[in-house]
Amino acid sequence: MPDTSLTETNSPIVATFRERTPASAALYERAQAVLPGGLAHDTRFMKPWPIYIDRAQGSKKWDADGHEYVDYMGGHGALLLGHGHPAVLEAAHAQLDLGTHYGSCHPLEAEWAEIVCAMVPSAEKVRFTASGTEATLLGIRLARAITGKAKVVHFSTHFHGWHDHMAAGYMDHFDGSAPRGVQPEVAADVLPARTDRPDEVRALLEERDDIAAVFLEPTGASWGRVPVDPAFVAMLREVTAARGILLIFDEVISGFRVAPGCAQTELGIIPDMTTLAKIAAGGLPGGLLAGKAEYFDLLDFDAMAAAGAEKVLHFGTFNANPLSAAAGIAALKVIRDTDVCARANAYAERLRAGMTDVLAEEGVAWALYGEYSGFHLFTNPKRRDCDPRAFDPLSVDIFELKENAPSVGKLRLGMLNHGVDMNGWPGGLISAVHTDTDLDQTVNAFRTTIRDLKDEGDLADWT
Ligand SMILES: Cc1ncc(COP(=O)(O)O)c(C=O)c1O
Repeated sequence: MPDTSLTETNSPIVATFRERTPASAALYERAQAVLPGGLAHDTRFMKPWPIYIDRAQGSKKWDADGHEYVDYMGGHGALLLGHGHPAVLEAAHAQLDLGTHYGSCHPLEAEWAEIVCAMVPSAEKVRFTASGTEATLLGIRLARAITGKAKVVHFSTHFHGWHDHMAAGYMDHFDGSAPRGVQPEVAADVLPARTDRPDEVRALLEERDDIAAVFLEPTGASWGRVPVDPAFVAMLREVTAARGILLIFDEVISGFRVAPGCAQTELGIIPDMTTLAKIAAGGLPGGLLAGKAEYFDLLDFDAMAAAGAEKVLHFGTFNANPLSAAAGIAALKVIRDTDVCARANAYAERLRAGMTDVLAEEGVAWALYGEYSGFHLFTNPKRRDCDPRAFDPLSVDIFELKENAPSVGKLRLGMLNHGVDMNGWPGGLISAVHTDTDLDQTVNAFRTTIRDLKDEGDLADWT
């Protein structure tokens, strides 16, 4: 979370931000009267106030004060194709004219599911949901129904949406205790585990007989902020298969981003079920659970009637709504038929290298890391020896990777002052339409911001 005390005006970085963004300040004040904390999403929290965006196109967006930003928020990961990709816009515009919700079956449902099944190795059948959170929720319900077992393994720091079952252990409550508002008995059915302790995980899976499923972000928690060793994922596959436990990859971010076949193709490891959202719905609201056909019989009226078994319940007003379906199909076709994933991955590699050079040249003991089309900045909260050119995130404690130096709030403001909007974690997600000019601007903004932070004394402990 950003620094909540970041309201001082004796910092030139903060003062510049305040002077540049009066329209955002006014919108924030207005929002506070009717939205808790002025916000619609917890990750948009920032001080002194968030920027308010009026429009976006390609790799750019523009705020209410008219400033242009290179965008690394990427619609919370939904926009691999950038803002307003022509194929997605064309499909969505055409569908708007035809209707946004029929309350009936429509042809795009099957077309969308067919493309998902053709692209994703683990997908034989698909059930659409309205979000990634709903997809993981359905995954838990279905896994429990399939196995008749209660417990779900959740790796600390991994994010699977905001519902009660996975609320503990993402950013706090790492012991699995119930966060405020969650019933302790709900939290108690979720077993916390750590990806950096393979022996403990193997023992847990081998010793207990009440585990329905293991959930995992296959490229690491929070889109690789806390990476996982692929050998660990392979071990999970082997042990869960042997023990009749379902392995569920949460590919809500990695899906259709890492590669057209998602992270499972890159890893060469096929889970039993996969959750997808974001890019899968072309950047519009939507999600899905995919997996072996036999599992989805539990959602099938006829199959369950024939089996004399109770059907698993699942509704959802906006499941596979025509607008999201049209956008999703258009986006997946571009991803399937072009090199967009590879382009975004290549840009990210160059960006990480450019920002690493800045840290090395400026003598700052922070580090850039990440894989595929993302970047993470390690701000070294415990002030360990850190060579930006030789940083291995797998050597750092999983919780430390999610912590930050106090100056991270100012870093974000500094980047905004220089026309770059990166995520406050800090890091970002890259699209296939980011350009070399964007890259130069970002690296220059980073260098200037690092120098600004040095001037304000914020990096004294890291230089
Ligand atoms: C890995 C992962 N799973 C699930 C979710 C929840 O998806 P949604 O925000 O669509 O509910 C997210 C959202 O960021 C995510 O990153």
